[in-house]
Amino acid sequence: MIKLSIPKVRYIANQEIVVVIADLRNLAAEELVETSLLTKNELDRCHRFLQASDKNMFMAGRSILRSVIHSYSDIPVTNIELDFVSGKPMLSDPHRSLIHFNITHSNDVVMVAFHPNFPVGIDVERYNSNIDLTAVAKTIMSNKEFNYFSNFSGKEQLNHFYQTWVAKESILKCMGTGFYFDPKKINPNEFISKNGIEHLCLNHSDYIVLRYNFDNDYPWAVSVKSKPDNFVINKHLVSIEYA
Ligand SMILES: CC(C)(COP(=O)(O)OP(=O)(O)OC[C@H]1O[C@@H](n2cnc3c(N)ncnc32)[C@H](O)[C@@H]1OP(=O)(O)O)[C@@H](O)C(=O)NCCC(=O)NCCS
Repeated sequence: MIKLSIPKVRYIANQEIVVVIADLRNLAAEELVETSLLTKNELDRCHRFLQASDKNMFMAGRSILRSVIHSYSDIPVTNIELDFVSGKPMLSDPHRSLIHFNITHSNDVVMVAFHPNFPVGIDVERYNSNIDLTAVAKTIMSNKEFNYFSNFSGKEQLNHFYQTWVAKESILKCMGTGFYFDPKKINPNEFISKNGIEHLCLNHSDYIVLRYNFDNDYPWAVSVKSKPDNFVINKHLVSIEYA
């Protein structure tokens, strides 16, 4: 059994985004992350995953979530209840506005973003050069964006595609709509950038976007529903303990 050593987060400043990252790539196929922080419903869901890797990513995401909310708020783990608004998990009342968070996972890398006051969205993907980039690009990019994307080729095009994808999906997850909102309506080429923080206005709301790459293979982005400001990001790595 694998135990995650999850950093304690006691305070998050208004201009701070905390991102907790678990890298599960070194786990052997049959090794499972410990589940003691999960609720009965979450454990039921765990049992429905066929692949150990999917199980582990789900367990890690929810364990990080519950552990950080507990250290941040002192709410006992067993009292942390989630509601799902159009699928987006958030704290149930009366704790709803205590902290905002969002989870993402891709190919054994899990990230959970937290902000004390504003809705947040996060997306990580692993580069995959085997997908039909042009076909997928057409489904998420407007004609104008697609024409720009077509100027690139090879590795540059792959990088541009994923930078575009994670930026769009982090905003869709921040909004809480997921892909029910048309990703073609978000054009990262038109983001306004200042001090490494990108900003856009969408449906009369402001969003900021920060884009990164984890371990060269995993482009990721985090968005906060906020006016542009001097945001800082604090990344914490989860360490893995073998019990
Ligand atoms: C939300 C969505 C973008 C996530 O895509 P994904 O490929 O599963 O990607 P990620 O790994 O980045 O995100 C998964 C996590 O996002 C969170 N999530 C689920 N729905 C969400 C939403 N609408 N908005 C924000 N976050 C959401 C969950 O925490 C989930 O992880 P968990 O189930 O392990 O807790 C995608 O599922 C989507 O667009 N869905 C359409 C909206 C939808 O299905 N709504 C449900 C109506 S009931």
